Amino acid sequence: MELALSGKIAIVTGASEGIGKATAEALAAEGVQLTLCARREAPLRAWASDLEQRHGNAVLAVPADLATEAGIAILVAAHQARFGVLDVLINNAGSIRAGSLLSKTELEWQEDFALKFWGYVRLTRAVWPLLVARGGGRVLNIIGGAGRQPSAGYLAGGAANAGLMNLTKALGDEGAPHGILVNAINPGAVRTARWLSLMQRQSAERGLSVPQLEAEQLAHVPLRRAAEPAEIASVAVFLCSAAASYVTGTIVQVDGGLARSI
Ligand SMILES: NC(=O)c1ccc[n+]([C@@H]2O[C@H](COP(=O)([O-])OP(=O)(O)OC[C@H]3O[C@@H](n4cnc5c(N)ncnc54)[C@H](OP(=O)(O)O)[C@@H]3O)[C@@H](O)[C@H]2O)c1
Repeated sequence: MELALSGKIAIVTGASEGIGKATAEALAAEGVQLTLCARREAPLRAWASDLEQRHGNAVLAVPADLATEAGIAILVAAHQARFGVLDVLINNAGSIRAGSLLSKTELEWQEDFALKFWGYVRLTRAVWPLLVARGGGRVLNIIGGAGRQPSAGYLAGGAANAGLMNLTKALGDEGAPHGILVNAINPGAVRTARWLSLMQRQSAERGLSVPQLEAEQLAHVPLRRAAEPAEIASVAVFLCSAAASYVTGTIVQVDGGLARSI
């Protein structure tokens, strides 16, 4: 299969850990030049230099907080100064905390939305003119199954994800005349630091141990296990590649068969 990704230029957010880190690895292996973003500078720079050494493509590390307008501006300015153009944006940095209606404060709702909803919207708005000027490109949003399958213990995550799914679909329409394909992945449970911290918070709220909670969550997954980050990254690479040239406005479930909708 011809992916035709070699020489493309991409931004991956939340790229120092978990799904973003695995996606950066998979894109670098296909010859993509990368700008990677996360807040903590040391692990981000170490990962960027590791990728650059092993794969031989340019990898720029930009430490920035994407929950803020200033952080978005820092990332876009650094990317433009280094590469000047963009082919692929992967919106991935997000960490909405678990919680029910009253257990989360309004400030927590706002902080979580600032990254997972507004961070995706603002960064997409900021780079859209670059993609138009390039004559096309890809935007891939890493969202999450709670947007389709609400859960009382993850209210804010479900609400933000539902908004991002709707946005993805509509942006598929808006991007089509420009050759910009906009898609999303809804991962199910993925074994990352974030998954473990969600489990820990819910276990405290519900009085269950983490292994008990994990077993409960995964009991409904036909494949009976959480995904590894690389299993999300491989679908991300496909959706950003020439092999997915007729796919836009689509949300791909990568959840071990969990979602019931057809
Ligand atoms: N893991 C799952 O089971 C799962 C399931 C469904 C959906 N998802 C979604 O997939 C995405 C990635 O999740 P993950 O599990 O891979 O997360 P993760 O392992 O916790 O990694 C998060 C990454 O984002 C960065 N980050 C966090 N806050 C940031 C901020 N304000 N600005 C810039 N970078 C920031 C982190 O680095 P710093 O801390 O240094 O900033 C890190 O590189 C998220 O949007 C999440 O909601 C995950």
